[in-house]
Amino acid sequence: MDDQELLGRANVARENAYCPYSKFAVGAALLCEDGTVYAGANVENGVNGLSLCAERVALFKAISEGQHRFVKLAVTCASDHCRPCGACRQVLYEHAPEMEILMGTPEGSFVRTTVRELLPDAFSL
Ligand code: THU
Repeated sequence: MDDQELLGRANVARENAYCPYSKFAVGAALLCEDGTVYAGANVENGVNGLSLCAERVALFKAISEGQHRFVKLAVTCASDHCRPCGACRQVLYEHAPEMEILMGTPEGSFVRTTVRELLPDAFSL
């Protein structure tokens, strides 16, 4: 699974975003060490605070299926290179602080970073 393939999987997942409030669709694709990919899209809710970002949907799907070792997460949205929000950075840090993140566009360009770079000096118990 190369970077472009993973970004492609995020773009496909993005088509399933449920975002009637923000109209801002995000897709994510998480590559696990065993080669499995878990995709996610943002799922919003009419009650403030209950929406879930694409990154956390993908991560929670993977963890709830017994996955614990993560290699790379691709995330895409229509505007510029998609940046994971602060809440997602904290959640990703808990499970995969050294994981690579590909912040992409639907056209396939991306910026490579890591969870630790996105959340320096992070809180952990
Ligand atoms: N969103 C994500 O899914 N991931 C991000 O990294 C940034 C924001 C979603 C949350 C909300 O449904 C919409 O984008 C607008 O904030």
